Amino acid sequence: MPVTTEQGARLRPNREEPAVDDDALLTEQLAYYRAGAAEYDRPYAEREDLRELLAAVDDLPIAGDVLELACGTGQWTSSLAARARSVTAVDAAAEVLALARARTASATVRFVEADLFAWQPSRCYDTVFFAFWLSHIPPARLPGFWNTVASALAPGGKAVFIDDGPAAAAEEEVLSGRPTPVAVRRLDDGSRYRIVKVFHDPSSLTTDLAALGWSAHIRLVAGKFIGVAEPPAASAREPARVQRGSDECGHLLGGLVAPPADGEVGEHSDGRNGADGPADGQGRARLVEHADVPRSAAAVAGGAAPHHGKGDREEQPDVGR
Ligand SMILES: C[S@@+](CC[C@H](N)C(=O)[O-])C[C@H]1O[C@@H](n2cnc3c(N)ncnc32)[C@H](O)[C@@H]1O
Repeated sequence: MPVTTEQGARLRPNREEPAVDDDALLTEQLAYYRAGAAEYDRPYAEREDLRELLAAVDDLPIAGDVLELACGTGQWTSSLAARARSVTAVDAAAEVLALARARTASATVRFVEADLFAWQPSRCYDTVFFAFWLSHIPPARLPGFWNTVASALAPGGKAVFIDDGPAAAAEEEVLSGRPTPVAVRRLDDGSRYRIVKVFHDPSSLTTDLAALGWSAHIRLVAGKFIGVAEPPAASAREPARVQRGSDECGHLLGGLVAPPADGEVGEHSDGRNGADGPADGQGRARLVEHADVPRSAAAVAGGAAPHHGKGDREEQPDVGR
């Protein structure tokens, strides 16, 4: 029998649900978004708070080359593109990417189909943006996630993020007593999925980020939170990598990187090309279809073993599509 918390979340006791590990949860979470792609945009059409939130992008420090993580159906992508020099928008669900492409008519946007728990950016960005993605990352993977966001940022770059705050728990059916918070979602056909859903409190998130060396300002807007955060200095992050100089944006690229004129891959000063994708060990991006890509500690979503055994696909730029 579900019980309701003070915040209004419906909690189902553990005994009603078998335990599920993070990898299985992430597989189910992705399956939910793939199966529900056609339903995804409905709240954006119906809910005033989401429209208000979308409008807030105009006041955010979106600039230069932008990496959008878990872009979904592209609700944010065009607004980002209007402020950016280029946008690289990544999501693992082909179904939502198809909708994002249809919605986004911009020659400076490139969509990449990739599992963020395996994919690593191989170039630098001035802004890393993610809306309603942070809450879907298991807590154990958050330090790795933030570390990878930091390593993707050029000097002076910022992470900009938007997500549900604790109040949104009232709208969810939450499974209690688990190390990774789980919510149950249902699609129109009655199918049921468990997803990771962490309702970050802005104040604790600010503190957690400070402990990782980030400087964050997080505010509530329309019941959600909007965060802008600057990473720790590269030297404070990963001394070994800085010494090696392997992929620290600032050290290798010497500042903000102009995008290739056509949105296609371009050469950086170290000879690496500018596309993103599973690293091939030589800094080159590559087209990978249905290959197993080991999840590395630096994978964007926090580093862990592959959870659905399916490879990631680096798509060609969607220029003009
Ligand atoms: C809550 S939606 C957010 C979409 C969009 N950012 C927005 O705010 O409307 C979460 C997105 O994460 C994507 N996703 C789920 N698992 C993923 C994974 N392992 N790698 C990349 N994207 C994933 C889903 O396909 C979905 O589009």
